[in-house]
Amino acid sequence: MQARVSVAGHNYIPFLSEGLIAERIAELGAQLNADYEDKNPILIAVLNGSFIFAADLFRQLSVPASISFVKLASYKGTTSTGNVVTAIGLEENLNGRHVIIVEDIIDTGKTLSAFLPEIMQRGPASVKIATFLSKPDARTHPVKPDYCGFEIENKFVVGYGLDHDGQGRNLPALYILED
Ligand code: IMP
Ligand code: MG
Repeated sequence: MQARVSVAGHNYIPFLSEGLIAERIAELGAQLNADYEDKNPILIAVLNGSFIFAADLFRQLSVPASISFVKLASYKGTTSTGNVVTAIGLEENLNGRHVIIVEDIIDTGKTLSAFLPEIMQRGPASVKIATFLSKPDARTHPVKPDYCGFEIENKFVVGYGLDHDGQGRNLPALYILED
């Protein structure tokens, strides 16, 4: 058993091991290789949390593919839908491209439901979502991942790119907040 760790002053216990994560990402990579043969997809990884998952998933791809990174800045919009999201750093022409959005975790779904229209208006041939983690019970906005590493309960997790107040992203395994 790995030991518990302290992150940003909170106790976390081991949840998903490095080996289990690697196995699952190899499976996701195999799925993508089968689904995207001859499609030359572009992965769009949402920073900061997805950087480690994106790097590991991308290295599992044997089909031609490219990757780009975006940072999302949300601000209160004047529309009834509330928050508006702008993508910083998205310079690629997505017209006719097969896009795979790469996320660390889908929690409420708010971030992605605001970001998806931004991608759609750029005329991609297709858009799919690949997420390392999903918390289906936390969903307040209807977002369904097409490729999901693990569905987890509605508890806070850190490691493998995910943070608690900026800390813990460098942990190679995933840890869950102790009750
Ligand atoms: P959503 O818009 O509620 O789906 O939130 C997604 C974002 O919230 C993720 O990309 C993470 O940055 C953050 N987040 C949600 N749950 C967790 C967690 O358990 N640990 C770390 N970050 C989280
Ligand atoms: Mg994120």
